[in-house]
Amino acid sequence: MCKTVQRRKGHRVTNNNTAPSAAPLPAAEPAKDGLRSVPRRQDGEDGPPSPPSVSMTTGVRSDARAHCAAQSAHMACALTPPGCDDRACLDRILELIHQRHACNFSQFRQDMLISRIRHRMGLHGLQALPDYLRMLDSDPNEGEALFKVMLIGVSVFFRDPEAWEVLYTDVLVPMVATAPAGATLRVWVPACSTGEEAYSVAILILDALRRAEKQCPLLVFATDINEDALQQARRGIYPAEIKDHVAADLLARYFVPCDPDGRYQLSTEVRDCVVFGVQNAISDPPVSRVDLICCRNLLIYLETSTQQALFSSFDFALNPGGHLFLGCAETPGEHADLFVPVSKKWRIYRHRERCKTSGVPMPTRSDSWSATAPGAKTPPAREEDVASLTRQLLQERFSPAAVLVSTTFETRYFCGPTENFLQMPRGAPTLDVLAQAREGLRSRLGCALRQALKEGTTVTVDDARVRDAHGYRQVRFSVVPVAGPDESGCRYLLVVFENAGNPPASAKSAGDPQVKQLEGELRATRDDLQSVIERLATSNEELKISNEEVAAMNAELQSANEELEISRDGLKSLNEALNGANRTLQDKVAELQTSNADIRNLLASSEIATVCIDREFRIKWLTPSMKSIGNIIATDIGRPIADFSTAGLGSGIIDEATQVLKDLQSVQTEFKSQNEHWYLRRIIPYRTEHHHIGGVVITYSDITEARISSENATAAMRSMATSLEQRVRERTAQLRTLMAELALSEERERRLLARDLHDDLAQTLAIVKIKLTSLEGSERRGVLKAALSEMEGLIDQAHRSVRSLMLHLSPPILGTLGLVPALEWLSEEMERLYGLAVSIEREDDLPVLEEPARTTIFRAIRELLINVSKHADTNVASIDCHRQEGNRISITVTDQGRGFDYETAVSCPAGESGFGLISVRERIEFIGGDMEVSSRPGAGATIRIIFPARRRDTIREGQQDDDSNPAGGRSQDSA
Ligand SMILES: C[S@@+](CC[C@H](N)C(=O)[O-])C[C@H]1O[C@@H](n2cnc3c(N)ncnc32)[C@H](O)[C@@H]1O
Repeated sequence: MCKTVQRRKGHRVTNNNTAPSAAPLPAAEPAKDGLRSVPRRQDGEDGPPSPPSVSMTTGVRSDARAHCAAQSAHMACALTPPGCDDRACLDRILELIHQRHACNFSQFRQDMLISRIRHRMGLHGLQALPDYLRMLDSDPNEGEALFKVMLIGVSVFFRDPEAWEVLYTDVLVPMVATAPAGATLRVWVPACSTGEEAYSVAILILDALRRAEKQCPLLVFATDINEDALQQARRGIYPAEIKDHVAADLLARYFVPCDPDGRYQLSTEVRDCVVFGVQNAISDPPVSRVDLICCRNLLIYLETSTQQALFSSFDFALNPGGHLFLGCAETPGEHADLFVPVSKKWRIYRHRERCKTSGVPMPTRSDSWSATAPGAKTPPAREEDVASLTRQLLQERFSPAAVLVSTTFETRYFCGPTENFLQMPRGAPTLDVLAQAREGLRSRLGCALRQALKEGTTVTVDDARVRDAHGYRQVRFSVVPVAGPDESGCRYLLVVFENAGNPPASAKSAGDPQVKQLEGELRATRDDLQSVIERLATSNEELKISNEEVAAMNAELQSANEELEISRDGLKSLNEALNGANRTLQDKVAELQTSNADIRNLLASSEIATVCIDREFRIKWLTPSMKSIGNIIATDIGRPIADFSTAGLGSGIIDEATQVLKDLQSVQTEFKSQNEHWYLRRIIPYRTEHHHIGGVVITYSDITEARISSENATAAMRSMATSLEQRVRERTAQLRTLMAELALSEERERRLLARDLHDDLAQTLAIVKIKLTSLEGSERRGVLKAALSEMEGLIDQAHRSVRSLMLHLSPPILGTLGLVPALEWLSEEMERLYGLAVSIEREDDLPVLEEPARTTIFRAIRELLINVSKHADTNVASIDCHRQEGNRISITVTDQGRGFDYETAVSCPAGESGFGLISVRERIEFIGGDMEVSSRPGAGATIRIIFPARRRDTIREGQQDDDSNPAGGRSQDSA
C-alpha cells in the first residue's frame, strides 16, 4: 500500500509503487460513417480508462480524479449513434461473435464496442464498417482477435491499493474474526481475467487468517468468459514488474521466484485456494453462498440493464451479510437498496440480506460455469420435470396477465399475456413499467403503484381504460405489495391485469357520450399531472442528493486545488532552478560558439593546412587551406585519404599515420611538393575528449622560405670557413716566419751576450789575473801571497763559469763548425756536467743546415739528453745522425732507461712530467720537421727527429760567420 495511506490496523497490501494512473482521454475524432474513433490510451488499451490508482507523492486520489475526468472525457466523446447501415453491420458483427464465442456483446456498452471495432478497423486500414464485416466473415482469426479485444483483459495485483486497504481492514479482518472455526470462506471473483484480482483477495484472506491464527478453509471461485486468460491465471506465473504492485512482505511470503527472468509464481498455498472456471457472468447461473464477491471493472463495460441483471445474480449469490467489492467507477445503481455501503468511496458494500425472489430474472442456462478444463463438455441438461411442465402450461393458459416490478417500478418478471396491457416503446429498450404501459393506462397504473408502495396495501383499479387497435377497452388491475422473506417491508409490487370487457352499453347510451369521454380524459390528465408532480418531487430529491455529491466532489476538488497550489509553488522554484540552469547552458553554448568561431578563424588564419582522418583513414574534417595542398575540399569528408595524390600530400602518409596510431608519437617529414614548395608534414594522434585515439591530425606548414634561408646560410658558412682556414694558414705562415725571426734574434742576442762576456768580462778577468800574478814578488809577500792565491783561484773559477755560460748561451762551435761538432761538444758537456755518456753515430757528408734549423735541432737534442739524464735513470745515451730520402736528415736519441708512456706523458700538465716533449715537437714542426717518439715503461726510449736539410748558401767553406762566432773562433762548414 502506498506509504501515505493511513492504515487502521497496520496491514500493508502493496508497496509504494502503484498502478499507473489512467491518462485522460483526448477528444475523439469524428469518423465518416457516424462512428467515432476513441484514441488509444497510454497504456496501450483503448476504450474506458483504467480504474484509478493512488498518487505516489500526495496520497490524494489524484488518479481517482483523473479517472473521473477520463470517464467524463469518455462520455463527452460519446459515439455518434450509427446510421441504419452501420447499425445493421454492428448487429451482424455482434451476432457473429455470439455464434462463434457464445458471448452476447449486445449487453455491452455500445460506445465501448464501437471503439473496439474501430480500433481493429484502424489496424487493417479500414474505414467503413461493411468492409470490416466482410473481413470478419472471411477471416475467423480476425473474429477471434476482435473477441479478445472486446473482452479487455487488463488486470493488476491490488489495483487501487487504498481500496484494498479498506477491504482488508473493514471486511476481511472482521470476516475472518467472526467466521466459525473450520467454516469455509467462499469468495466469488467474476471477470477475473488473468487472475491477479482473485490471487490478491486470496492472499489478503490467507494473511488475515494467519494473523488471527485461525484455520478456515478458503475457496475462491474465479471465473471469466475468456478461456485463454484463465489458462494463464491457472499457471499463476507473473512478470518481475509485479513487485511494483505487491508489498515486499507479501511478495516474499506468497510468491516464489521461478525463473532467471525474475518472474514469480504464486505459492502452492495460494494457488490451492483458487479455482478458475469458465463462466459468463451475465447469462450463466451464479456461484452461490459466497461471503464476498469481487467484481471489478466489468460493470463499466455493460449496458445499465445488463448491470442490473448482474446485481440480481450478486443478490442471489451472496450470503446474508456478505460483501460486494466493485471497481472505482461502478455502483449498484438501482439496486442500492440491496446493499449498505461500507466504503462509498471505494465501492465496498454489505449485502442487506439475501433476497429469494422467484420472479427476479436470473441466469438459467444449463451450461453454467464449471471449474473444468477449457473445452471440457458441459453436463447434459436435466430430464424435464413433467409436473412443473404441466404447471407451466396451466399457468400460461389460465393465469392472468401479471408483471412483477421493483420498488422503482422496473419490470422484473412477466407472466401471462401482458402484451394486451404493456408494450415495449420505440427507441431504447427500457425496464420502466410505466414506459411500457399502453396508452390510457399509464397514469392510472402510476398512481396505483405509488399508492400501493406508500400504503403497503393492495390497490385495485376497476375503471381503467386501455387503447388498442379498436379503440378504448375497459380494464381492471390490482397492485399487490410483495414483502421480502423476512417480512422487512415491501420489496416488489405485483400488477395483475384483467380485461373488464367493453364499456357497458348503458354507459354508452346514457348521457352525452362526448361528455363522458371528455370527463374520462380529464381524469386521466389529472392523474398524469399528479404523477408528473410526484415525479418532480422525486427528481427534486435526486437533485438534492446529486447536489450533495457535487458539494462533496467540490470539497475534494478544493483540496486537490490546494495540493495543486503547493505543487505549483514547487514547480515554480523548480522552474526557476531550471531557468538558471538554462541560462548557464545558454552561456556555455555561446562560449562554445565563440570558441568554435575562434578556432575556425585561427585555423584559417594560421595557413597551416590541417586535415583529420579517422582510424580507417577517412577524412573527418579539414581546414580550407587543404585545397592548396592536396586539392581536398569540405565535400570530400568521409572519403579515404588514400584517394588523393601523394604528389600534393607527400608520400608515405598512410604508413606514417599507421605508425602514429601504433606508437602514439608524432612523426614529421619534410617534402617537396609538385608546386616546388617545401612542406613540413606533421602527423599527431587525435585524442578524443575521453582520451581515446580517434585517428590522426595531419598538418602542413610551408617551409620553403626557411629552407632557402637555411641553404643560403650553410653556403655562407662554408665559404666563411674556407676563408678563415686560408687566413689561419697565412697567419700560421706569418707566425712561423716571426718565430724563426724571433729564434734568430734570440740567437743573435745570445751571441752578442756571449761576445760581450768574452770581450769584456773575460778580458777583464784575464787582466786582473795577470796583474795579480805580477804582484807575487812584492813586499809582504807572505800575507799577500795567500790572499792573492785565493783570489786567483776565484777568478779562474769565474773565468770558467763565464766561458761555460758563453758556450751554453750560444756555443760558438755551432755557428763556426756546424751541428755535428756542436753535438760532439754537447756530449762532452753532458758527461762533464751530468755524468751522461753520450755516444754519437753519424754519416759522413751530412748537409750543412741553415741557421734557424741548426740552432733549433741543437737545442732540441740538448733538451732530450737532459731529459734522459734527469728521468731515464741511466747514464748512457746515443745519438744517431743519418741522411734520409728527399734531402732530409734524421737524428735519433736513444736510451735504455726506464722508458715512459708517451700519451700519459704528453697529457700531463706542462712542466710536470711532459718532459717538454710537446714544446720540442712544436719547435721541430716549426722548421718543417717531424718528431717520432717510441717508448714503453721499462723499455727505454727512442726519439727521432726528421727535418729538411737545405744548403747553407750564405756560408762558404772556411768562411767565418761573425754573427755566429761570439768567441771570434773559425767556423767549419759542416752539419
Ligand atoms: C478489465 S477485465 C477486469 C479484470 C479484473 N476484474 C480487474 O479489475 O483487474 C474485464 C474482464 O471481464 C471479462 N468479461 C467480459 N464479459 C464477461 C462476461 N460476460 N462474463 C465473465 N467475464 C466477462 C473479460 O474477459 C475480462 O477478463
